[in-house]
Amino acid sequence: MNHKKAKRIGILTAGGDCPGLNAAIRGVGKTAIVAYGMDVIGFNAGFTGLIDKDYIHLREKDLSGILTVGGTILGTSREKPYKIVKEGDSDKPDQIKENYKELELDCIVCIGGNGTMKTANRLSEEGMNVIGIPKTIDNDVWGTDVTFGFDSALQIATEAIDRLHTTANSHQRVMIIEVMGHTAGWIALYAGMAGGGDIILLPELEYNIRSVCKKIEQRYEDKKPYSIVVVAEGIKHPEGKSAASYLAEAIHLYTGIETRETVLGYVQRGGSPTPMDRILATRYGAFAAECIAKECFGVMVAVKNNQLTTVPLEEVGGKVSLVTPDHPLIVKSRKMGVSFGDEFL
Ligand code: F6P
Repeated sequence: MNHKKAKRIGILTAGGDCPGLNAAIRGVGKTAIVAYGMDVIGFNAGFTGLIDKDYIHLREKDLSGILTVGGTILGTSREKPYKIVKEGDSDKPDQIKENYKELELDCIVCIGGNGTMKTANRLSEEGMNVIGIPKTIDNDVWGTDVTFGFDSALQIATEAIDRLHTTANSHQRVMIIEVMGHTAGWIALYAGMAGGGDIILLPELEYNIRSVCKKIEQRYEDKKPYSIVVVAEGIKHPEGKSAASYLAEAIHLYTGIETRETVLGYVQRGGSPTPMDRILATRYGAFAAECIAKECFGVMVAVKNNQLTTVPLEEVGGKVSLVTPDHPLIVKSRKMGVSFGDEFL
């Protein structure tokens, strides 16, 4: 008879929340319990729970009914245990190691973005078994083609652009919509294309305000008296203003056309995940549990060419996935007359 002790795993969600976190927790937890008989605990509020030994037991029935729910049942935080800000912070890594031992953990599943993967790698270097699952609306985690949360944010941003189109048309105004994405332009590029934006500004491409205005004036002359400008929050702009408010002022100043701005904000991170995100998060979660069963640690689960795979955490930590200037969506959009604000540089 095999008396080998069942594996015990801990799950945490860290960084900004996004739709699909509960689907991922459910995917890991259910697969770990049902398929492999593992014992599962969930740490509260990201790495804070790991430091403070603040956790809950997750039974199979606790994971029912959460697939469609936004946010995270475990809570999250921006805690970075390796960042020393104040006295006592340097004790955090040791506290984590102690808790890992005391709780007899066989693995910690860290669900998060770039910062979380960096921390996950540090924990792995300290000798703990760790698996990362990439999430973020920004889609900027290096080493995977896609993060869950992105599709849901894209849907929200696209719907907002659709709504702005009708009011822009009615009033013959320039409408600027600022979307999230941190330093990356993935949401702006995809929502810009899906929503038929006339001008799309990304942090990865240098833009010129005169070029933006020229495009708007050109549309005006072509009897298209309204324009939709989709802008990523991460573009260069003067401090103290949002990207959208800077553009609105400048466009009105240079063109004289009535201009309004919308900063979409946190609605992009809230609410129920789209079916695609539910599936992606579930696939990631279930695959992470399979990796644990096979004792494949120190990796982030990833999707490449729609196939689940793993990437060493040491390769992921500290990198960001950005839009490249030759991205097929940029090339296609340009050919259709969409401006990226760099045509007359
Ligand atoms: O990473 C997700 C994200 O929503 C970014 O798009 C945004 O820049 C940032 O988080 C906002 O962070 P916070 O939740 O700390 O305000």
